[in-house]
Amino acid sequence: MKKVVLGADHGGFELKNRIADYLKQKGYSITNVGVDSSDSVDYPDMAEKACLEFKKGGYEFGVVCCGTGIGISISANKVKGIRCALPQNIYAAKMSKEHNNANFIAFGGRIDYPEKVEDMVDAFVTAAFAEGRHDRRVRKIMALEQ
Ligand code: RB5
Repeated sequence: MKKVVLGADHGGFELKNRIADYLKQKGYSITNVGVDSSDSVDYPDMAEKACLEFKKGGYEFGVVCCGTGIGISISANKVKGIRCALPQNIYAAKMSKEHNNANFIAFGGRIDYPEKVEDMVDAFVTAAFAEGRHDRRVRKIMALEQ
């Protein structure tokens, strides 16, 4: 079964749970590292939890949410091996897989997206990495970790 890990802070937990429900319905097995309440937590801690769980292996991708998606995506991108996209719409969600081979996707629970987040998630999971020149560029991204 395809596996996904999800994590969020207090600003993103409701959206994270909505995305989890959507992915469950699509046949994914869900690992939820929390949080599941509006009690204040620090988004770098939640990004770290989700990324470290992902790095245990077996996950297709991860989802992280905070109020804007910004803090938690910046944090996730500090973890070695993680390429976390913060898409604005369906097009960007699709491209984040096709061109950037993102292995995490971030959303903001307090953001009014122009399109349904579920449709953005769907665009991400149904897209495939385009390889070719994009592979060279993604390798260059990863080389920046050294
Ligand atoms: C928490 O209030 C908020 O700062 C956080 O959820 C996120 O939006 C940060 O980027």
